[in-house]
Amino acid sequence: VVFESSNEASIRVAQEIASLIKRKEKKGETCVLGLATGSSPIKVYEELVRMHQEEGLSFANVVTFNLDEYLPMEKENVQSYHYFMHEHLFNHIDIPAENVNIPSGTLSGEAITEFCLAYEQKISDHGGLDFQLLGIGRTGHVGFNEPGSHYNSGTRVITLDHITRVDAAPAFLGIDNVPRKAITMGISTVRHARRIVLLGWGQNKARIIKETVEGEISSEVPATYLQHHKNCTFVIDTEAASQL
Ligand code: GLP
Repeated sequence: VVFESSNEASIRVAQEIASLIKRKEKKGETCVLGLATGSSPIKVYEELVRMHQEEGLSFANVVTFNLDEYLPMEKENVQSYHYFMHEHLFNHIDIPAENVNIPSGTLSGEAITEFCLAYEQKISDHGGLDFQLLGIGRTGHVGFNEPGSHYNSGTRVITLDHITRVDAAPAFLGIDNVPRKAITMGISTVRHARRIVLLGWGQNKARIIKETVEGEISSEVPATYLQHHKNCTFVIDTEAASQL
């Protein structure tokens, strides 16, 4: 779906999330959301916060799982996805703290493997993801599933692609400060979500959007795996759609 403005598009996505939350609440069920970081979803979160503050949208029955986190990364660090999510969403809504799940960037060794398995287990214990929000990296990554990621991959440690580190460099005041690794949900984790919405804004996403939508399905562009999904929508603006 192509929108003229990313603002209008983000509001529509926030409305879809809000109606899912309300529908589930009516049935007495929790709503399980997979959430993304980066600049793309910021306006969606802003609109959800507005709906909470002005329209009483409640997140009391919402459980969230974030896609990824840098490794190593302290929660308090302003570059952490933990910080990002609290800043843009969790600090402003009524979600119970225990319902928020974000991969940990502070573990090492065996503890990481255990954490990744437990993260997957926790998602299935909640009945799987009802909705997964995604952005896309210039390498074609979703979450941090870089080129080479397997179709059946689960939550795991990944080595970040050079391009991804270049793109993250400004936020870290130089590429040397960008972590080399991350923990990310896998392609399998993402594609088991019952509904997926991928956001793409601006000219610099045009090439990867074209490759993802029109290209051959390949591990070289992990986002192409989404072509297999039965309920996945790319919500993009005219600039991101300009090469389609
Ligand atoms: C990071 C995140 C991805 C995100 C991507 C694009 O690499 N791990 O989840 O989709 O950046 O970011 P942006 O939305 O800022 O373009």
